[in-house]
Amino acid sequence: MKQQSSAGAAMGSVMCVVGARPNFMKMAPILRALASTAPALQALLVHTGQHYDPGMSGRLFEDLGLPRPDINLEVGSGSHAVQTAEVMRKFEPVLDTHRPACVVVVGDVNSTLACTLVAVKKNIRVAHVEAGLRSFDRMMPEEINRVLTDQVADRLYTTERSAAENLQREGVAAERVFFVGNVMIDSLMSNRAHAHSAADTLKAYGSDPAILKHRYGYGVVTLHRPSNVDDAETLSALLGVLAEVASQLPLIFALHPRTRSNIDRFGLAQLIDPARMVMLPPQGYLEMLGLVSQATLVLTDSGGLQEETTALGVPCLTLRESTERPITIEQGTNTLVGKDRASILQCVADILQGRGKRGRVPELWDGHAAQRIAVDLLQWLQPR
Ligand code: UD1
Repeated sequence: MKQQSSAGAAMGSVMCVVGARPNFMKMAPILRALASTAPALQALLVHTGQHYDPGMSGRLFEDLGLPRPDINLEVGSGSHAVQTAEVMRKFEPVLDTHRPACVVVVGDVNSTLACTLVAVKKNIRVAHVEAGLRSFDRMMPEEINRVLTDQVADRLYTTERSAAENLQREGVAAERVFFVGNVMIDSLMSNRAHAHSAADTLKAYGSDPAILKHRYGYGVVTLHRPSNVDDAETLSALLGVLAEVASQLPLIFALHPRTRSNIDRFGLAQLIDPARMVMLPPQGYLEMLGLVSQATLVLTDSGGLQEETTALGVPCLTLRESTERPITIEQGTNTLVGKDRASILQCVADILQGRGKRGRVPELWDGHAAQRIAVDLLQWLQPR
C-alpha cells in the first residue's frame, strides 16, 4: 500500500475516496472546490484501486486534472465479497493513521460502501455525494451499495429532488439531506471546451473518420452491466440488435474490459462488423466527452452517461429496465428501452427522423454543485 503524505491541518482533514471510473469525474470538482473555498480543510485523496488499468483509471486522472492519490489501497478486482472486504481491511489502518474529520464518498460502487462502513464504525463522519438515487432493482449491486451507504452516512448530498423522497421513505432524517446539484455535470461543464474531437479519437486508434460523415452521423455505445454482459445469450442478443442499428447508423463502441472479455469468452466477436461498428478500448474522459457531445444518439447501460447526455441534449437510449436517475427521463433526453429489440429499433428510427427527445437541463445541474458541497462541509466541520 502506497502512502505519500500525512494529515494535520487546523480543522482536520477531509479524506476523499475514489475507487472506480465513475467516481473520478465526481471527485475532481469536489477537490478543486475544497482547495479554493475551504483551504482550512486539508483534502487527502484515497484511491482504493478497484479500477487500476491506465484506460480505466490513470488516463482519467490526467484528463480530469486529479492529483496523484495520497494513498492507494491497490485492491484490484475480485468477487463482490472479496473486493468489498479488501477495501475495508486496507482502509481501516489508513483511518487510524490519519484520523480525518470526515470521509467523503461518491456514487455507488463497492468502494463507496466499503469505506463508508469502516469510517462510521470508527465514529468518523461520512458525507455521501450522489445520495438517494434508487433504481428499486435489488439485483443491481449498486442498489445495495446506495441503500446501505445512505442508511449510515451522516450527510447526504443529492443531485435531484426525487432523491430526498426516496430517503424519506427509507426513514432517513430530512436534516441529513442536502440538494446540491450534480458534480458530474460540474466536470462536464469545466472540460467541455477541452474535449477531443471524434475525428481525432478515431484517427488515434487507426480507424477511418469517414464514418463520422454518414448522413445520420454516428451513435456511441457502452455496455458493462453484469445483467447485460455476463450472460452469453443476453449479450449475443444485444450485439445482434446493435448490428441492426449499425446497418442504419455507424456505431462507435467503447468497450469496458468486462464486456471485452465476455465477447471473447462467449465467442461473439463475429457478430461485430468492423465496417459498421468501430470497437475502441475504454476511453479517456476528454475523448468520451468529445464522442458523446457530437453523437446523434447514445446507447448505454451506464448511469453517468444518462446524465451527461441530458446535460448535452443528446438523445440517450438506456439498455436497462430501470434507472436510478428518473429526472433524465422526465426532463432530459433519456428513454428506457431495456433489451427489447422492437423498442430499440423504433426509438433509433424516431431519432434518425428528427423525432428524438430534446429535454432540458435539470435544476442545479449548473456547474456549481461541488462549490455548494465545499461551503456546506466547511460549515458542518467547524469545531463547536
Ligand atoms: C464497477 C462498478 C459499477 C460501475 C463500473 C464502471 C461496483 C459494484 N460496480 O463495475 O457500478 O458502473 O465499475 O466501470 O462497484 N477490470 C479490468 N481493469 C480494471 C478494472 C476492472 O480489466 O481497471 C476488469 C476485471 O476483469 C474485473 C472486471 O473488469 O473483474 C469488473 O471490474 P469491477 O470493478 O469488479 O466492476 P465493474 O464491472 O467495472
